[in-house]
Amino acid sequence: MQGKLTVNRMFTVGEAEKNLFGGFVEHMGRCVYNGLYEPSHPAADEDGFRKDVIDLIRELDMPVTRYPGGNFVSGYDWKDGIGEVSRRPLRAEYAWNALEPNRIGLDEFVKWCKKVNSEILYAVNLNTNTPKSAQELVEYANFAGRGHWSDRRRANGSAEPHGIKLWCLGNEVDGEWQIGHMTAAEYGRVAHETAKMMKMVDPDIRLCACGSSTGDMATFGSWEIEVLRHLFKDVDYLSIHMYFSNRDKDLPKYLSVPEQLDSRLRAAVAACDAVAAEKRSVKKIMIALDEWNVWYRGSVVYAPEDRWQCGKPLNEEIYDMSDVLVVGGALLSMLDNCDRLKIACLAQSVNVIAPIMTVNGGKCWKQTIFYPFRETSRFGRGTVLRSVVDSPVYAGGAKFCTPEIQFLRTAAVWRQEAGEITVFAINRAAEKMEFSAELQGFECTQVIDAIEIANPDMDAVNSAEKEAVAPEKIAADRYSLRGNQFVSELKPLSWNMFRIRVKS
Ligand code: AHR
Repeated sequence: MQGKLTVNRMFTVGEAEKNLFGGFVEHMGRCVYNGLYEPSHPAADEDGFRKDVIDLIRELDMPVTRYPGGNFVSGYDWKDGIGEVSRRPLRAEYAWNALEPNRIGLDEFVKWCKKVNSEILYAVNLNTNTPKSAQELVEYANFAGRGHWSDRRRANGSAEPHGIKLWCLGNEVDGEWQIGHMTAAEYGRVAHETAKMMKMVDPDIRLCACGSSTGDMATFGSWEIEVLRHLFKDVDYLSIHMYFSNRDKDLPKYLSVPEQLDSRLRAAVAACDAVAAEKRSVKKIMIALDEWNVWYRGSVVYAPEDRWQCGKPLNEEIYDMSDVLVVGGALLSMLDNCDRLKIACLAQSVNVIAPIMTVNGGKCWKQTIFYPFRETSRFGRGTVLRSVVDSPVYAGGAKFCTPEIQFLRTAAVWRQEAGEITVFAINRAAEKMEFSAELQGFECTQVIDAIEIANPDMDAVNSAEKEAVAPEKIAADRYSLRGNQFVSELKPLSWNMFRIRVKS
C-alpha cells in the first residue's frame, strides 16, 4: 500500500500552542492521594509530592493542568482546602463516593504546578456553589490588594498572588449525573453573573464556558448555542470533552477516532461562529478540549469495599498498543485543528485514565500512551502545515464522522526556530505502507530523527515490571531523503515520527 503526504510552506493551518499538551488532575481515585501526593513514599519531597511523578510529568511537558475536577468540582467548596491542614474538614465526596481529607487544596496544588512547570486551569463550582464563592476564590488566588480573602492567602503563606489566569465556569453542567445539573438557560444566566463578578476582581482572567459533555447528549448543539448567547462577551473558550472507546471491539472503527474528533471540533467551532453571526461579531471563541482520552475499560464506580475512603483505585485504565494509535491520532487531529483549538487536557495525569501509573510505596511507570503524547508535546509545537493526503480508504463506521477513512493519517509541524519539520504519520492498515512526504517550498538537508511505535500485538501493554510498547529508532536503511522528498516504509498499524532539518 502507498500513502502520500504533500505540504506546502505557503499553506498553514495555524500555530500549535503549548497549551494543546495540557493535563488534568482531579480529586478522584488515586490521582491526587496515593498518586502525585504520597508523603510516606521514599521519593516524596518536603511537601509530600512524589518526585518520580514530578519527573515524568515534566517529561510530558504539560504547560497547563486543569484542576480540581471533573465531577468532583460540583460538590466541592474550595474554602475547605485552605489554611492549617489539621483543621480542614473531612468530607464525604458524593461525585465518586469517596472521602476527601482536604490535605491538598489550592495553595498546595499551586506548589505542585510550580514543580512541574504548569499553569492552572481552575474549574469553579457553579453547580452547588455561588457566584460570590467564585468571586472570593479569584480574590484569594489573584488579588494583589488588601481584602478578607487576599489577606487569608497572605496569612496562609503566599504573599504574592498565585496569578491564575485560566478558569472554567463549571464542569459538564449539562450532565444529568452531575451534582446540581442545570439546563442551558439556568447555567447561562448563573455563569454570566459569575463571569462578571470574577472579572471585577481580575479583569485579565480568561474564561471557558461549559460545552456538551459528549457528542451523544440530547442537548448537544442546542446547549452550546443557548449557553453562548448568554456568555458570548464573557468567555474566550468553549470547553468540550471527548473520551474514546473500543467497546465494539472493532479496531478499524476505533482507529477513526481522529476523524471523529475532527467532526466534534468542527461542530464546536460552528456553534461559536453561529452565535458570533447572530451577534454580528467577528469575535472568535476558541475551543478548549479540556478532558480527552481513551476511557472504557475501567469501572466508573468503586468496588463496595473501596467506597467512602480516600486514595482507592478507580478507573485505572491499562492502555495497549491500539491506544497508542488512537491517542497519537487524536493529537494529530488537534494539530490539524489548531487554528481554533487552543487548550487540550489529557484526562487525567496520574493513575486515573492516565499516562503515568504509580504503585503505592513503589515504582512509577509509563503507560503505552505516554509515548505518543511525549513526542507530540516535544516536537509538535510550531506552525502546522495543511496536510494533503493521498491514501487508500476504508469504511470507518463511526457515527458523526466522515464515512471514508484514509489508512494514512498525518500532521506536519514546521518548527521555525529549530529549523525543523516534524512529520507524524500513522499507518492504520494491517499491512506495511510505502510512505512519502513532499515538503514543497522547503530546502530539506537532513533527517534528524526517525522513530516508530510498532508492536504488532495490539493488546500489548506496559506494566511496572515490563515495557512492551515504547518508541524505537527506525534504521536509516528504511528511509531516504532526496531534495524535498522523504520516503519511508511504515510498519503495519504503526505510529511514526520523522524530524527533518530545513534551511530557514
Ligand atoms: O475524568 C473523569 C470524569 O469524566 C470527570 O470527572 C468528568 O468531568 C468526566 O465525565
